[in-house]
Amino acid sequence: MCGIIGYVGDRQAAPLLLEGLDKLQYRGYDSAGIAVRDDQKQISVVKTSGKLEVLVAKTDSGRTIRGRCGIGHTRWATHGEPSGVNSHPHVSCDGKVVVVHNGIIENYAEQKEKLKQRGFTFVSATDTEVAANMLAYYYRKNGNDPQKAIAATMLRIKGSFAFGIMFEDYPDIVFAARNDSPLVVGDANDGYLIASDTHAILAYTKKIYYLNNMELAMITRDGVSFLNIDLEPVSKVPSEIAWDSNSSDKGEYDHYMIKEIEEQPKVVQQTLERYIQNGKIDLGISQLNDSHIKGINRIYILGCGSAYHAAQIAKYQIENLTSMSVETEIASEFRYRNIRLEPSSMVIVISQSGETADTLAALRRAKESGVFSLAIVNVQGSAIAREADGVLYTCAGPEISVATTKAYSAQLAVIYLIAIQLAYVKNMISEQKYKSYIGELSELPERIRECIKCSEKIKDLAVAISGSHHAFYIGRGVDCAVAMEGSLKLKEISYIHSEAYAAGELKHGTISLIENGSVVIGIITQRRLAEKTLSNIQEVKSRGAYVIGISNNCLEQMSEVADVMVSIPSTDDFFAPSLAIIPLQLLAYYVCVAKGMDVDKPRNLAKSVTVE
Ligand code: AGP
Repeated sequence: MCGIIGYVGDRQAAPLLLEGLDKLQYRGYDSAGIAVRDDQKQISVVKTSGKLEVLVAKTDSGRTIRGRCGIGHTRWATHGEPSGVNSHPHVSCDGKVVVVHNGIIENYAEQKEKLKQRGFTFVSATDTEVAANMLAYYYRKNGNDPQKAIAATMLRIKGSFAFGIMFEDYPDIVFAARNDSPLVVGDANDGYLIASDTHAILAYTKKIYYLNNMELAMITRDGVSFLNIDLEPVSKVPSEIAWDSNSSDKGEYDHYMIKEIEEQPKVVQQTLERYIQNGKIDLGISQLNDSHIKGINRIYILGCGSAYHAAQIAKYQIENLTSMSVETEIASEFRYRNIRLEPSSMVIVISQSGETADTLAALRRAKESGVFSLAIVNVQGSAIAREADGVLYTCAGPEISVATTKAYSAQLAVIYLIAIQLAYVKNMISEQKYKSYIGELSELPERIRECIKCSEKIKDLAVAISGSHHAFYIGRGVDCAVAMEGSLKLKEISYIHSEAYAAGELKHGTISLIENGSVVIGIITQRRLAEKTLSNIQEVKSRGAYVIGISNNCLEQMSEVADVMVSIPSTDDFFAPSLAIIPLQLLAYYVCVAKGMDVDKPRNLAKSVTVE
């Protein structure tokens, strides 16, 4: 998704903007640009298609552009192909307004036609240039009042936006406005900043203000002010971000993904410690207290991508312990269902970024039913965290690689806590079982660490299958949910087509695709389902498949059937998903490395999908 940054202060803006854009690269982009106003109030705009280094080279790392006020942008194309002319910042045809934008203006064509009839001209195919000319039109119409111009534009846009704006006549102010696309304001010692996410400005400040929907912000060297859509002042208290700016550096690792895979033991431990006090689980901070739990009879769990796969794990684990009815749904589907949730329901939304547009929309859709909503989120202060009734933060720290690993594992840790607490409060498990689970959880980080040690074996295996064009991941029950996540990891970074299947489902069609040498990854961690899955593995084996087995020692015969066996440590079946996913993450990573692909920024993908 697009990334926005803006700055007003004592420093030269261009180098700072470029540094911020470097931090925003992980969001996914295809072009970049900056606009800086110099001390003679002239605005210079430099933008290029391709990687950020093209812009850095063109501006000599920002040294060729002087000025202390500016905005910058990394573009993930929605309207108009990736090109220099379509990249941001965009300037209104009268030169009065310069804007960067993250989001989608759904009614841009209608607005563009109106502006053309008023004499406005366009050079790009973007919706953002329409916004620039809308701002210029309402600026002129409202007596050159920038705030009125912004409010008028906001009210006429249908869609999502986060804007960074400069007006030619207001030399030392950067304006910001948002609706449904993320935007934060940072208070640094030597100035103020705006950004799409805190990661971009953490090097300069941990003091962050969150802009709500349909609010405006004005930053100058000396301060920030906020207005609502009626241009009434809004007072805000800043939040202190708990992350360290260096926590998102790659350090000595080749890629963020392997760093984040190796951080998982620590991250899971931090997350567990946050909610286990004196041997007891305490989720009260999320409003999910015991009395609340007693009134819940049905649960909906929503998410996208890996977050949806975590939701699938949650479904099995909660049902295993409580026999409650748990429904999971891909957020982009749930949001359009004509469904009324029973009052005794709870909706759980899972999101690493807390900004995924479909998940945010599904949360809002669920809240229309008036039920309790709980968010499992990694990014502090994100939209989903702020709009849910309760939030349980994962303690994964900044996750930079587009392919999620540590945040997913931290989500599983929170899911186990919720499942165990629901079962305990509803008297579905004994005090003894409760304590036993808590004890097993305390061992989980070390067991994950043991799994990561199989890295070398996985690396060789990855090279062996890196030339494959297809791969199949199969499992039963919660192992099927693990298969879904393992499959996504492989395909999203190595571009090998992979599919996850319930092991019992293969023979209903898909097994026709199995031929000599087909790669099948079979996951067996659940003792009570092991024999069944082994039969399915034997079915594909007998048709020539090359089988990679991922299993704890719940089934001796597995090692006789699989061509390659990757063993994971024994643990209570309940926690096995956290271990089985580790070799699958490593497999995807090393296949990608073997293929020479861009591990952390795979093509077409963004870290946070803030558009629909
Ligand atoms: C996972 O590796 C992908 N990056 C993607 O599926 C991701 O999980 C999905 O877009 C949801 O993102 P979120 O957790 O930030 O909502």
